[in-house]
Amino acid sequence: MCGIVGAVAQREVSGILLEGLRRLEYRGYDSAGMAIIDPSGDIQNRKRVGKVQILSEELLASPLQGRVGIAHTRWATHGQPSEINAHPHLSGDIALVHNGIIENHAELRLRLEKLGYVFLSQTDTETIVHLIHHYYKDQKNMMAALKLTIADLHGAYGLALINSAEPERILCARKGSPLVIGIGIGENFIASDQLALRQVTDRFVYLEEGDIAEITPDEYTIYNSEFEQVSREITQIDTAADSADKGNYRHFMLKEIYEQPSVIRRSLAGRLGSKKILMEAMGSRAAPILEKISSVQIVACGTSYHAGMVAKYWIEGLAGVPCRVEVASEFRYRKFKVQDNTLFVTISQSGETADTLAALKLAKTLGYSASLAVCNVAQSSLVRESDLYLMTEAGPEIGVASTKAFTTQLVALLFLTVALGRHHDISEAQEEEIVSALNSLPDLLTETLALNLDIKEMANAFADKHHALFLGRGAQWPVAMEGALKLKEISYIHAESYPAGELKHGPLALVDADMPVVAVAPNDLLLEKLKSNIEEVQARGGQLFVFSDKAAGFKAAKGMNIIELPHSSDVIAPIIYTVPLQLLSYHVAILKGTDVDQPRNLAKSVTVE
Ligand code: AGP
Repeated sequence: MCGIVGAVAQREVSGILLEGLRRLEYRGYDSAGMAIIDPSGDIQNRKRVGKVQILSEELLASPLQGRVGIAHTRWATHGQPSEINAHPHLSGDIALVHNGIIENHAELRLRLEKLGYVFLSQTDTETIVHLIHHYYKDQKNMMAALKLTIADLHGAYGLALINSAEPERILCARKGSPLVIGIGIGENFIASDQLALRQVTDRFVYLEEGDIAEITPDEYTIYNSEFEQVSREITQIDTAADSADKGNYRHFMLKEIYEQPSVIRRSLAGRLGSKKILMEAMGSRAAPILEKISSVQIVACGTSYHAGMVAKYWIEGLAGVPCRVEVASEFRYRKFKVQDNTLFVTISQSGETADTLAALKLAKTLGYSASLAVCNVAQSSLVRESDLYLMTEAGPEIGVASTKAFTTQLVALLFLTVALGRHHDISEAQEEEIVSALNSLPDLLTETLALNLDIKEMANAFADKHHALFLGRGAQWPVAMEGALKLKEISYIHAESYPAGELKHGPLALVDADMPVVAVAPNDLLLEKLKSNIEEVQARGGQLFVFSDKAAGFKAAKGMNIIELPHSSDVIAPIIYTVPLQLLSYHVAILKGTDVDQPRNLAKSVTVE
């Protein structure tokens, strides 16, 4: 949610900041702004509503010059997207950018208004910059003013600020919203995601909760929440893994859909032996923890929650271990009892989702045996704060609609299922079957992607519709949920998903020729049940779009459209059947002309509650 980038260098920084904003735009894109200390020592800023490209055009017409600056791309929380509400916010000689939400902003605003501050925006952020300005008047020291300010803030923040009275430095602080320092030679940087800085450095220092830092061209200094100077590990990132580039694809989403065979191959490498999964891949601490686990609680949001729902079918059905799944925003405010020997599992692409992090924080106080994060970002807060982790290895996912993150989450969760099942219901022979199914997965996904043109053709039937229904049974129900989420997210068509057996308990009333019904129907144990549900739709004149395999025996007819997927083992079918639904939403969105990679009102990483 929102992106921050800052640079303090011995060269012009506006180009660096702009490229950083472009790379962060997937996090928020309703307005963008930049503030730079100019050669005469004044702060100059430019802000524009809309995408970073609009700010870039403004900077071309009216450039900013200087060697110290901060910039921001916004996803509105307090106040409409407008130039006034866009960051950086200014107070006297100070400019500030902020991610997160200040919960006591209304009370701080009143206090500052009484002190004579005039607010221009409706944002919570403006209270921070006035507060710093207020303390700076007495302290005459930015670090001291920042320290006093954050003591007054309730809520979440990742923030960075510059002051023309103390040029050549950027100050920053984090609590609940990520920040990373990028280390250069004679220049240093700050950003909310290292991706923003990959064009200037490959060395990063991740700030921890409560950290405050000061960066100058030659050094950076970090203090912890007790204001003790601390040193944090430097992480070197493989520059070849930089995927903030669409390549030859029209959209990041399409590129990421097509990357699935290769990222899954990568995520399997080193984790599978010829007949067994390699437990060592989970780290030496995992085995003694997992062998004692007798139940699992999964918590996640959005697409990651759907991955958790699929995992529930696997963990209970294959491993024989009771498993509960809940969306993080509910879990964090509910009262319940924790059973002994329960593993707390979070799933998150970004590892920065505020609700999921809050759920983990709560879980740590509740007596779970251990926490395990299934995550795509190794340096994320979620990974750092969990006892164990399983990385999904999908590489950076830029499209707001999650695709390769979901399928790699499923692979990791199947791995976890086997790791748990070894101590419960999974025999050596079953483990061997699962390993063999996983090994076949990349090629089956490639075969599935080859159906793209048929799916593109099918998309025509959806483009003028306002509603769609997605049906599945068993582990394919959450796949149907994910298909519906994808369609509504990027094509803005209202889509619902139901376990197909629920149809006659209500949603059947909606079925008519204007309501496309998608059925996820592999040839599995529930196929005959699903066929009866499909007949219920046909009998009411519903238009069916069935994803199945040859052996299931569906025949195309009027009102019955079929895409035949390659045959696979049941266990990996949810991963394979996800892909055509991703392609379907993509092509519908293209026909509708929506912004596929940055759909309206959404942001990639939801770091606010
Ligand atoms: C997926 O397409 C969504 N954009 C969204 O539901 C996402 O999965 C959710 O916000 C959770 O994000 P996370 O995986 O980074 O925690």
